[in-house]
Amino acid sequence: MIRLGVNIDHVATLRNARGEDFPSVIEAGLVCETHGADLITVHLREDRRHIKDNDVILLRQTLKTELNLEMAVTDEMLEFALDVKPDYVCLVPEKRQELTTEGGLDVLSNMDRIGYFIDTLHKNNIKTSLFIDANLEQINAARDVNSYAIEIHTGKYASCRGSAYINEDFYTIQDMCEYASSLDLVVNAGHGLNYNNVQAIASIPQIHELNIGFAIIAKSMFVGLSQAVYEMKHLILNSRYK
Ligand code: PXP
Repeated sequence: MIRLGVNIDHVATLRNARGEDFPSVIEAGLVCETHGADLITVHLREDRRHIKDNDVILLRQTLKTELNLEMAVTDEMLEFALDVKPDYVCLVPEKRQELTTEGGLDVLSNMDRIGYFIDTLHKNNIKTSLFIDANLEQINAARDVNSYAIEIHTGKYASCRGSAYINEDFYTIQDMCEYASSLDLVVNAGHGLNYNNVQAIASIPQIHELNIGFAIIAKSMFVGLSQAVYEMKHLILNSRYK
């Protein structure tokens, strides 16, 4: 059964817009996990534009499901992760100016450093994932640095509009999921997935987990967070996209 990770970064974006202490990121995490989220994902960015350190610390203490921390490959973040001990760390590339994470991590050019992060996290019982593009060389590199999982960047696939979501990017993702799984990597995916395009990706048999944020938080404005999570989970579990 595919797992749904709900990324709640943008609850913090809204909170921070007025400098208030609501809406509560912790409450959001608890609502998500009681309505179908299998884990809660947060991205602690270098500039702390949404999630703050204390959000992660409190989520770690209150969640009954699992916590997935997305973070850049920096010493500061590694130290923080070793302190808080989330269940998973997903290493992502990070540029200060970007609106969101724009491309996959270049594992191939940074094998030593990423390998060191992975070893250190594993020694501390934190499972690792690498957010990479659907690319053979990057998948091989992820296997060579001994990552537990990869998360395939679905942003390019998701940016294609139209009713047919089976496009060229979809086929690349499909092939790369099969390939990564044959290397015994756990295969996750995420970025840009929404209520229209999620089912094609969820129909790929090797997919273990999808991490979805913006579409769920946006829909929650109109139907409430519990319903928004429930509807996404329902689509994922009933994906018979052909
Ligand atoms: N996975 C990763 C690694 C991400 O960086 C993000 C965005 O923070 C997501 C998934 C979720 O993307 P979206 O908000 O577009 O659903």
